[in-house]
Amino acid sequence: MDVYEKITSLAKRRGFLYPSYEIYGGEAGFYDYGPLGILLKNRMEEVWREYYILKEKCYEIATPVITPYALLKASGHVDEFIDEIGTCTKCGLSVKVEELKDDRCPVCGGAVEKGSLNLMFETYIGAKKKEKAFLRPETAQGIFVNFPVLYEFFRKKMPFGVVQVGKGFRNEVSPRQGIIRLREFSMAEAELFFEPDNKTHPRFHEVKDETMHLVSDELDSEMAAGEALQKGIIGNEALAYYMVITKKFLERVGIDTAKLRFRQHKRDEMAHYANDCWDAELYSDRFGWVECVGIADRSAYDLTAHMTATGTDMRAFRKYDEPRKIKRTAILPKMDALGKTFRGKAKKIADELRKCKISGDTDTVTLNMDGETIELDATFFNVEEVEETLAGEKFVPHVIEPSYGIDRIFYFVLEHNYKEVEKENETYVLITLPPSLAPIKAGVFPLVNKDGLPDIAREIERELRDGGIMAIYDESGSIGRRYARMDEIGTPFCITVDYQTKDDDTVTVRFRDTTEQVRIERGKITEWIKKEMEK
Ligand code: GLY
Repeated sequence: MDVYEKITSLAKRRGFLYPSYEIYGGEAGFYDYGPLGILLKNRMEEVWREYYILKEKCYEIATPVITPYALLKASGHVDEFIDEIGTCTKCGLSVKVEELKDDRCPVCGGAVEKGSLNLMFETYIGAKKKEKAFLRPETAQGIFVNFPVLYEFFRKKMPFGVVQVGKGFRNEVSPRQGIIRLREFSMAEAELFFEPDNKTHPRFHEVKDETMHLVSDELDSEMAAGEALQKGIIGNEALAYYMVITKKFLERVGIDTAKLRFRQHKRDEMAHYANDCWDAELYSDRFGWVECVGIADRSAYDLTAHMTATGTDMRAFRKYDEPRKIKRTAILPKMDALGKTFRGKAKKIADELRKCKISGDTDTVTLNMDGETIELDATFFNVEEVEETLAGEKFVPHVIEPSYGIDRIFYFVLEHNYKEVEKENETYVLITLPPSLAPIKAGVFPLVNKDGLPDIAREIERELRDGGIMAIYDESGSIGRRYARMDEIGTPFCITVDYQTKDDDTVTVRFRDTTEQVRIERGKITEWIKKEMEK
């Protein structure tokens, strides 16, 4: 068995991951999180929120999964979110074109017909009069379309960031890599809005010396964020900053950063909305380098698209340092003439006239008002050069987007922490999860199942849970077996109640990774574990 097979087998046996719908034969591209798996995934998402909400001051929103056609048409997903596929005319298998060899079916060798597949799952809203819709391919769009209200929420101060943690859906052509390629997956996305020429971060100086393994067409080396920015390898400060934050987050959840690299997308592999993108890729002994986070510069792409499609003003306003005087050619309506000819409509016509953009030699203007075409000549207006003072200007914000594939990171946390130890001709498995991430923090055992030790151990389990520590009582099998069961689910501490506990109210605490033991006062265990989790 390779590491992936070992992990998926352990994950199923111990309640981390189950292939979905197994009793109906299974469905590729779908996985269930089991009782321990969801505890670990929830912790990963909580840590992610600590980074983006607590430290980066973003706010989270939650928007629907079902997304109207019009929105995804405007965002480009209807036309561009497509894989080129080949479908076997003999056995019906579809695969991505880049997976085909000699244009034959990789399974039965049959001839292949080429076509394309939009990756979005289609659905409908409503009963009789059905409106076409899709399951969202990314959470990002729910944030973009709320830009005007979010801009108000942030009191019109840029930059600001909004995040969303939730499900995304892609009808992958032929997913064969288990949890690495899901059709329904969990994403954590941050959309950070900037002034176009000011994609900076006030705390970049704190991270400029942090190094990253960078890979692009010209480069494959470890480099400090500041140097990469200075050399123009990373396009702007905000992008570089969030790449460092990504490295810190991944390290915090237990990723081995020796197996992390950031790879710049080539022009032809970039998503339709991106103009620069770095993927955080993690190394797997089974799959090689796998994209787990995409950090993209989406520029003004999405807000412009939604503004064009809906007519909603998606712009922000910035004040100039000093008010600027500009000269422009303006139309000044002649109210007397307008009043005589147009009577009650004169004011409205004058207002429309003032809005017209014109050049100095304009002598007629055509207005379309309430379905009526009105031709106006110089009888009704003067054209003059006027000087205006502008306090600022409107602009379409740019977006930097770190987008995390939670399920992939989840798998890599398991793979990077999967260890085997040989002991007395047996192989023991331990998952060296950071204590703060582990689904179960402590196992509590009576040394023997008599003389009141189980009662004390059960009380300690209760005390730990009351104190906010996830603990489980276990009295079955030898102490060695109980330790082993805890090690393979990543439980960092095992507490054993023995005869000495009855004399002096102390217990032993065993460390998962070193198997060392210390004696601790029973009343102090909760606080002690909390301190250990902060390390
Ligand atoms: N929002 C980025 C992605 O869907 O990959």
